[in-house]
Amino acid sequence: MLGHSVSRATKHRVKGIVVNVTEVGFGRQLLATPAAVGVVRTYVKAQLEKFGYPHAVADAQLVAAELATNALAVSERGGSIRVFLGHRPRGLVLGVWDADPHMPERKPPPRLTPETLDLDPGGFDDNGGWGLMIVEALVRDLWIERPACGGKWVCVALNV
Ligand SMILES: Nc1ncnc2c1ncn2[C@@H]1O[C@H](COP(=O)(O)OP(=O)(O)OP(=O)(O)O)[C@@H](O)[C@H]1O
Ligand SMILES: [Mg+2]
Repeated sequence: MLGHSVSRATKHRVKGIVVNVTEVGFGRQLLATPAAVGVVRTYVKAQLEKFGYPHAVADAQLVAAELATNALAVSERGGSIRVFLGHRPRGLVLGVWDADPHMPERKPPPRLTPETLDLDPGGFDDNGGWGLMIVEALVRDLWIERPACGGKWVCVALNV
């Protein structure tokens, strides 16, 4: 589970008293603005390079950008999203959290016709429904985790 505390609880002694310190392990928390997508991409690149998977950066950034864009679309103004990338029992896991309780749902692939292309400024970006399909084509597994604090993590196991 990613939760908000995929955490390492460590014990420290302060003047002889044992203190539990929880190192919160949810990666990064970001203000829910369109700029967050760029920060997510930068974080994903840095993590993968740190873990020694530079070849996986391009696909993982695309996946992360799709998940982050979806998360932002359901986030309230002034809210936040979270991103995590790290080793978990299921593999190298990327997760994006948002506060919205509704689950992502695959839509039937949109039928592309000249009318549904983004040529008309009035219909710009109205022909979506590809994001999760692209994500599923690029990852080993996709699942949802619901932490006790609410919202959900949309998680994928990356192909590395
Ligand atoms: N994090 C999320 N929370 C709630 N609903 C979601 C979330 N992610 C996706 N969904 C739902 O699943 C649908 C499909 O998502 P998908 O990313 O495939 O398409 P899209 O975002 O509508 O379009 P596109 O990604 O092609 O621009 C979305 O329209 C939305 O209704
Ligand atoms: Mg999308």
